[in-house]
Amino acid sequence: MKSAPIYFDNAATTPMDERVLEEMLPYFKNNFGNPSSVHSHGRNARETLEKARKKIASLLNTSPGEIIFTSGGTEADNTAICGAIETYGIKHIITSPIEHHAVLHVVEHEVKEKNIRLSLLECDAEGNLNMDQLALLLEKEPNSLVSLMHGNNEIGNLNDIERIAALCKQHGSYFHSDTVQTMGHYPIDLKALPIHSLSGSAHKFHGPKGVGFIYINKTKKINPLMLGGGQERNNRGGTENIAGIIAMAKALELAFDDQASHAEEILQLKTYLKSQIEKNIPGVTFNGLSGNLDKSLYTVLNVSFPPSENNQGMLLFHLDLEGISASGGSACSSGARLGSHVLNALEADPSRENVRFSLSRFNTKAEIDHVVKILAGLYQA
Ligand SMILES: Cc1ncc(COP(=O)(O)O)c(C=O)c1O
Repeated sequence: MKSAPIYFDNAATTPMDERVLEEMLPYFKNNFGNPSSVHSHGRNARETLEKARKKIASLLNTSPGEIIFTSGGTEADNTAICGAIETYGIKHIITSPIEHHAVLHVVEHEVKEKNIRLSLLECDAEGNLNMDQLALLLEKEPNSLVSLMHGNNEIGNLNDIERIAALCKQHGSYFHSDTVQTMGHYPIDLKALPIHSLSGSAHKFHGPKGVGFIYINKTKKINPLMLGGGQERNNRGGTENIAGIIAMAKALELAFDDQASHAEEILQLKTYLKSQIEKNIPGVTFNGLSGNLDKSLYTVLNVSFPPSENNQGMLLFHLDLEGISASGGSACSSGARLGSHVLNALEADPSRENVRFSLSRFNTKAEIDHVVKILAGLYQA
């Protein structure tokens, strides 16, 4: 008998929490008004929308006026980058080669179209960014836009965003952080963190796809990306996705309610997965800092497998045949089967096979045992 499918690709997207689904369903049927309408249906929708905004703001210790709803993480990152460039006449961007394409592709576009200079921070073979280089660049050019992520979606590296924010503050530079992988997984206190914008996406914390938000600090407002009606106090045109927003607020609340215990549980799973893989498959290493339990996302383990006659570049395919969903990198690069830009930046050995296992609170130790058994079988001589 075939075993139940196993999902180890939670950095690509997470399954919805049942409680989140329950919360959002009524908004497709009953409270369907447009929050911009002035009649009672509209007013009800507006009230609901503002409650959700308040909830998210309070979970992040900030004010509701600083939370703007978007269609997800990509739109939030695009808004921050294009908005900061336009509003503050930015002529120099600092980012890193291991950012998500939601940042890198818009940065490349803006650099090309607007004659902006780009500095990519150096990173070592583990993906550690050169912080001295960042300090020097900021000293030379204070009116820069810095976009550096919190947690890397492929190799799990955690950047010290407190330190980066402090450096940017010291030089008066604009600091955006892509926090899509850490939102709901790590506490964020926006009263304590001097950051100008950050991004969140509901489907990464057991909410629905197609909804997210951007935090924009009130002292550093930026022009909108989406022009249209005056929604979101003129910060983002387009009728709000009420059901999605309600669901996102609920998902974030649930994530923060038990954040520490979820973190502990998932870290235990990751620790177990790492030790079982090391024990059963000779020659494995871990990409980036993902094998370092203190310096990486507790949700991500990116494993580098030695070349093998049995698999020959087909490891993910073999896992898929066994009903195990994992990924070679980010969801987009695995779909296109292109090499990962992150692993390329780390100059990873191209003869090895890389699999990103990413975990959530819905995974179990029994699933890990099963996956390791399958892997061990694939690596038997
Ligand atoms: C780090 C990071 N940034 C941005 C995104 C894009 O988010 P969304 O899928 O909501 O557009 C993702 C999703 O894969 C991500 O992992």
